[in-house]
Amino acid sequence: MTHKLFIPGPVNVSKDVLLKMATPLIGHRSKDASILQKSISEKMKTLMHTNNEILLSTSSGSGLMEASVRSCTRNRAAIFSVGAFGHKWYEMAIANGITADLFSSELGKPTSPKQVDEVLSTGKYDLITITHNETSTGIMNPMEEISQVIKKYPEVIFCLDTVSSLGGVNINVDDLGVDICIASTQKCLGLPPGMSICSISQKAIEAAKKVKNRGFYLDLLKLYEYIQKKDYQYHSTPSLSHMFALDYQLDKILKEGLENRFTRHKQMANYVQQWAKENFDLFADEDYASYTVTTIKNTKNISVAQLNEKLSEYGYVISNGYGNLKEKTFRIGHMAETTLEEIQTLLSIIEKIIK
Ligand SMILES: Cc1ncc(COP(=O)(O)O)c(C=O)c1O
Repeated sequence: MTHKLFIPGPVNVSKDVLLKMATPLIGHRSKDASILQKSISEKMKTLMHTNNEILLSTSSGSGLMEASVRSCTRNRAAIFSVGAFGHKWYEMAIANGITADLFSSELGKPTSPKQVDEVLSTGKYDLITITHNETSTGIMNPMEEISQVIKKYPEVIFCLDTVSSLGGVNINVDDLGVDICIASTQKCLGLPPGMSICSISQKAIEAAKKVKNRGFYLDLLKLYEYIQKKDYQYHSTPSLSHMFALDYQLDKILKEGLENRFTRHKQMANYVQQWAKENFDLFADEDYASYTVTTIKNTKNISVAQLNEKLSEYGYVISNGYGNLKEKTFRIGHMAETTLEEIQTLLSIIEKIIK
């Protein structure tokens, strides 16, 4: 039985988009491959509001997270975490031999712009990572405020994880001054997992030139220089099937209209959050609750595993809490092509089950 996914990625992918993955293949050194990559780049720039270059990686978003911290940290990285994925970025830095410090917020709270200022004012850091939307706790960080602070430190490379928000929430890369903005295909972009995308600024490229050991496959400088010299082709074979689907899906996203798409996500989030407050409670600080995933505090002590078993009989699936938050919370993803009506149906079924 196939299930309708209300987990925070992978998401339900429209049939026409899935079918694009079955497009007959082309050579990755062909003119058509260059045209495809350039077409994706132009549309991604529109979605991200950036003039920066776009890089694709045949890896999930974690690949580009690891690539950014490894390729561009010259001395020391400041990793800000609001949950599991911020913490993973720290682990990636350490595993790559990067000198890094972790600054974690209390779970359910956002990154504090004041703390960012205090940390960067030490002058010790030349790269900072921020999670825009933390999929474990359901926190969405206040990017305007945080970016205002980071702009005071122009020598610092600003890396932003928008894995679970880009395509569902407006991210203005150039206004925010983001040097490397990272997204995965399987969340708000509404595609199967297996590819990630980032924008990269000239400042980040210059920083990477000063880093000796950037690795190979995920060396951002190598990727950047290769696409410049080889007419937007890659040094290894990319997932062309994802690229066909991504190019097509970006057309659909732009046709829906970015404002319409972001409004739909906000409406779904408002509805789920209201429902959560009436029936359970929100895990995240309400002022910073995510527009793409809601983490619900299990105040009624229900068995989330059993709830999901029952939901499965209706053909639906939601997510348990992440890591230590399992059973203490559960998560409802409202992203990509999901509609408010689908969310309303899901929640009414959950109500029926828990009564
Ligand atoms: C906020 C966030 N960052 C990073 C990741 C890692 O991305 P991926 O699974 O595409 O490697 C995830 C995955 O769920 C995520 O939600």
